[in-house]
Amino acid sequence: MQNRKVSVIGLGIVGLTTAVGFALKGHKVIGVDVDDEKVAKLSKKECLFFESALCEKAKTADFQVTNDYEPILDTDISFICGGTPANSNGSIDLRYVQGSAGRLADVLKEKRKEHLVVVRSTVVPGTTEAVISPFFNGVGNIGVCVNPEFLREGRALEDFMAPNRIIIGESESKWGDVLVNLYEDFGSQILRTTMSTAEMIKYASNAFLATKISFINEIGNMCKRLNIDVHDVSKGMGYDDRIGAKFLNAGIGFGGYCLPKDVAALMKQAEIIGYEAGMLKRVLEINDEQPLRMLELLKKHIPVLSGKTIGILGLSFKPDTDDIRESRATLMVEALLKEGAQVRAYDPKAMANFKRLYPNIEYGIPQKVLESDAVLIITEWDEFRNLDYKNSIVIDGRRIDKAREALIYEGLCW
Ligand code: UDX
Repeated sequence: MQNRKVSVIGLGIVGLTTAVGFALKGHKVIGVDVDDEKVAKLSKKECLFFESALCEKAKTADFQVTNDYEPILDTDISFICGGTPANSNGSIDLRYVQGSAGRLADVLKEKRKEHLVVVRSTVVPGTTEAVISPFFNGVGNIGVCVNPEFLREGRALEDFMAPNRIIIGESESKWGDVLVNLYEDFGSQILRTTMSTAEMIKYASNAFLATKISFINEIGNMCKRLNIDVHDVSKGMGYDDRIGAKFLNAGIGFGGYCLPKDVAALMKQAEIIGYEAGMLKRVLEINDEQPLRMLELLKKHIPVLSGKTIGILGLSFKPDTDDIRESRATLMVEALLKEGAQVRAYDPKAMANFKRLYPNIEYGIPQKVLESDAVLIITEWDEFRNLDYKNSIVIDGRRIDKAREALIYEGLCW
């Protein structure tokens, strides 16, 4: 493998992981971000995200960070890693990706040698060809590829270094060859496709994971009525390797920055091309109905919530992160406040972020939360497996076995 000069534009989790990962592989890496504060913090080796492995390695890996696009001229491959947040109608906002592409094209005008631009941001199928490639038409000897990421939050660097697949969407095979060479020593299976196919693989993967969760939640909702433990159903299904055991944990549903946003964006694209994506629509609906089912179960035990104090255990969208984006806790807190209940919440890491959204609810230690009139378990943090639930009414959205000792215990789907 030849050592390359790589630039990474946009130093969010995806960009920073890409920069650190390629630096660890021995390539010369420059990370570029227009956010001066971010660049300053990274230069001082400060940690930006709740990603312990990434923070650790970002301190020692040899890579340069700058807010200047000019040094990109001295690299051979540029990864565009800007965020693609959701617009209010579910479509994606391409502002950051287009902004990066425009500035990159400006800088690359000066370049005489070959340069490869790689879109790593999550963009709906067809975007790179229709929206990004045109920035580079007629600009020197520049190729464009798509290389989606499949990084899980909290394990981003681990997933980067040992990916289960590398997808290369290429405009021409000579440009795909550059990426094949760059990823040669990752020991992972590589699939080469068209750019739109690569973009679709990313969306289809996240939509499938989301579908698996909503599917098992639907089965779980039936199991609850039939007095069947859906956990055993998932286990039994998972033994079939055509189905697989992962992503069959029923409960209050999926959150985070990717799954809800990507399913919504894919649905929006379906609408644009005149197809009704009815299954994806139900996937999101079932996901939004799960918190309401939890509220119903709570009201079975406390019919009038007004004036009652309801405890929440877990605010992050999954354990081991402080990220509360699209967390089920926000929907639950909204519903409780609407009912006139007081909310008392605890999370090992996400309370500071939640306080910014809800400064007026009460925050307290787990024991205090367990003294509330009833307690809802929203995130399966490990420490919740050792609490003393004996005197509490518990509605469990994540199947914490220890909570079954509660005075009254209700599982959401079991
Ligand atoms: C996801 C994808 O897994 C990753 O490949 C992609 O690149 C980004 O989106 P992430 O958002 O970090 O990663 O979280 P993930 O571990 O997938 O969990 C997403 C949500 O689904 C969480 O809220 C989790 O609690 C929920 N979930 C997961 C379930 O409700 N049940 C399950 O069985 C699995």
